[in-house]
Amino acid sequence: MQTHEIRQRFTEHFVNLGHSEVPSASLILNDPNLLFVNAGMVPFKPFFLGQQTPPYDKATSIQKCVRTLDIEEVGITTRHNTFFQMAGNFSFGDYFKESAIKNAWSLLTKSVEDGGFGFNPELLWVTVYLDDDEAAEIWEKQVGVPAERIQRLGMADNYWSMGVPGPCGPCSEIYYDRGPEYGKDGGPIADDNRYMEIWNLVFMGYERGEGIGKDNFEIVGQLPKKNIDTGMGIERVACLLQGVDNVYETDLLRPVIEEAEKLTGATYGSTQTNDVRFRVIADHCRTGLMLILDGVTPGNEGRGYILRRLLRRIIRSARLLGAEGETMEVLMDTVRQTMTPSYPEIAENWERIRSVAVGEEKAFLKTLESGSHLFESYAEEAKAAGSTEVPGDVAFALHDTHGFPIDLTMEMAAESGLSVDSEGFHSLMAEQKARAKADNQAKKLGHADESIYRSFVDNHPTVFTGYDQLEDEGLILALVQDGALVERASEGSRVQVILDRTPFYAEAGGQMADRGDLRGESFAADVDDVQKVGKKVWLHNVTITGGEIAAGQKVTAKVSRAWRHQARQAHSGTHLIHAALRQVLGPTAVQAGSLNKPGYLRFDFNYGDQLTDTQLRDIEQIANGAVDTDYEVNTIETSLDEAKKMGAMALFGENYGSKVRVVEIGGPFSMELCGGIHVDHSSQIGPIAILGESSVGSGTRRIEAYTGMDSMGYLSREKNLVSGLATSLKAPSEEIPDRIEALTAKLKAAEKQVQQLRNQQLLSRVGELVANATSVNGVTVVAQQLPDGVGAGDLRTIAMDAKARLGSEPAVVLFTSQDGDKVPFVAALTDAAVDRGLKAGDIVKAFGEKVGGRGGGKPQMAQGSGSEAAGISAGLSAVKQVIEGA
Ligand code: ALA
Repeated sequence: MQTHEIRQRFTEHFVNLGHSEVPSASLILNDPNLLFVNAGMVPFKPFFLGQQTPPYDKATSIQKCVRTLDIEEVGITTRHNTFFQMAGNFSFGDYFKESAIKNAWSLLTKSVEDGGFGFNPELLWVTVYLDDDEAAEIWEKQVGVPAERIQRLGMADNYWSMGVPGPCGPCSEIYYDRGPEYGKDGGPIADDNRYMEIWNLVFMGYERGEGIGKDNFEIVGQLPKKNIDTGMGIERVACLLQGVDNVYETDLLRPVIEEAEKLTGATYGSTQTNDVRFRVIADHCRTGLMLILDGVTPGNEGRGYILRRLLRRIIRSARLLGAEGETMEVLMDTVRQTMTPSYPEIAENWERIRSVAVGEEKAFLKTLESGSHLFESYAEEAKAAGSTEVPGDVAFALHDTHGFPIDLTMEMAAESGLSVDSEGFHSLMAEQKARAKADNQAKKLGHADESIYRSFVDNHPTVFTGYDQLEDEGLILALVQDGALVERASEGSRVQVILDRTPFYAEAGGQMADRGDLRGESFAADVDDVQKVGKKVWLHNVTITGGEIAAGQKVTAKVSRAWRHQARQAHSGTHLIHAALRQVLGPTAVQAGSLNKPGYLRFDFNYGDQLTDTQLRDIEQIANGAVDTDYEVNTIETSLDEAKKMGAMALFGENYGSKVRVVEIGGPFSMELCGGIHVDHSSQIGPIAILGESSVGSGTRRIEAYTGMDSMGYLSREKNLVSGLATSLKAPSEEIPDRIEALTAKLKAAEKQVQQLRNQQLLSRVGELVANATSVNGVTVVAQQLPDGVGAGDLRTIAMDAKARLGSEPAVVLFTSQDGDKVPFVAALTDAAVDRGLKAGDIVKAFGEKVGGRGGGKPQMAQGSGSEAAGISAGLSAVKQVIEGA
């Protein structure tokens, strides 16, 4: 039975039983605890908790789910998919255990002719929670499952929660016995590979509190109603009904494996290692496609990181199977074909999906090879030096300059029998992040606990009046200081002010918050940031500049006119740049983020290639053309569907309410869903000057620009710069590029000459160095510190020369120098020395230890680098000791 039919039968069964059919939610829901929707019940969580009233009392859905915790298991076991479809039926206070059990059983065991799945009831086993006698009795007495096929399991297996606070309850699971070739007898408690879990019935009646994992948490109380949440794994049922060995060979994934065989030349089913790679490709391609469909783009954090890791694992697996060129497009296209019948929206979004996936592949292929070489040379060195660990800075360099996700480095290390100093890696990452986030941090709400705002979110949402006015009268509802409600605050204090109404725009949609001031009878305060809590309550971060502020007082809230003027210019400018960009680059250039503040805008978008100068110039011209046309700017409130019909651009994965706001600049020229503040006419934006374009992570580009007077300021600074250059070069400005090119060429030639002279000088000394050699144990030893500034490359040249001069006698050469804060060192051994059992690796190791460094290489030649010059002479003695000891 094909997957699409399994889906259909499931839905029909429950619709016939009075359930409302609910479409799958996006993989990305607004739940801070979840990166991705990972169970069918997630969209229904507020119904279970009694926070919202469901519009139905019974529902059924087939929810897209992503779980990447078990990513290492993919392809190794028979049943781990990172993307899967969870079919579920839900009761919100309607039916409970008895019907849930009977309904599941009847669908599984009903004959295929009668619309069921036709499983042989004798091969089905069930588990129940330890003390759930009620469920055990229903299974035995009412359904007729023999007592020996009903097993009891504890909290970790048969008590289901989301792993975090939320609804929970004991559960009962249904398993299918795949037969002795899949494992040992004894039911699911003995072997969960042979007995494959297909359906989990959760009797959701309780609420889970804080705690850890699956079985170490508190039950904080009962839910308002007794509910049912179930999850049947479509892929697993497909695997069983299609009689294939594992979920990767089912109808939706097998074609991807076949395509991968063609692309790589390898054959599925020949070796276990290769089979795992094929399955990884099939599994990850589908997950990747579905994530991109729901708006995820590859990145270095959170969801973006997971997508990136999946895509890069596909690319690497394909390489290891023998693929040489690009493979992503063909593989993804196969997934498109198998998945579109169930998810028709793939068709509309295909071009975007393809471009994101292929863009990531292009970017990664560029660095995969260089990164792999770097990794291999370190692995070799580490092994030569007797180490079993890849240092944290190597893992960091692989990540930072070669785009290797740390998990990839760890996988590669494991394949070479090495571990990775992940602590070192993470501390370097943390340092880098801390630098980037330093300026962002001030903006945070100030503390983590949002609970004190909750009653305001529920009962006193702020009325925003700032679309039409800059000034308004309001009432101070509350003051918050250091995370606690306070009654009053005096001059010099920093507080958060909650008002009943405000003209201040709170940071959202890329637009920075308004600045301005609050004034009351007894106080004055400067507003330097405004943030929203729960999308409903405006928190004005203020400094009291005079008097004393108190809750309950009246206030005049006034936004700075100049700030607002320039902020509007920048935000409307962003829309023009976006529209112009799509005219020039086409519809695949999808917005990935934006920031605008007075006078400046930044726009990130997904695009695989660097923009050319011509493209940038065209974008700038189109945007400024729109300014010059003086379009009217209109805002329209409407439904999301209506807005989409109008052609408004919306961000994927964004949670829009039932009413949306469309900002239109010049009719079709630009139409976007946006809650921000805009000019009334496009000419008010003033000139837009593009500063440039850059890469922010693979597949994502950034355009930065100035607007209004800031554009003028920028252009005049540029002009001054050019005239300054013209003066110092004594040339008219149009000749500057040629002049600089000529100067650079001259400089390069001069540098080359200096280098040659230095080498000659050093090489002329080699004879003298060799003549001063000492002899240790019958081995000629030339161990010397050369003048400061001789780099690793030169050391190598001289060492090779010295070794050549020493000819056939047993000889050890070690040269080092102080090069800035580094201490590079190179050892070269003649074959006769190697024959005596000496190794260059041992020599550099002994030396490296004294100068705080490490190194490695071949027996004849090894090199490394340290950082403690004070240890050089001890290092030179250590070299002699190694030779003495040999
Ligand atoms: N929510 C239950 C699960 O995910 C059905 O297993």
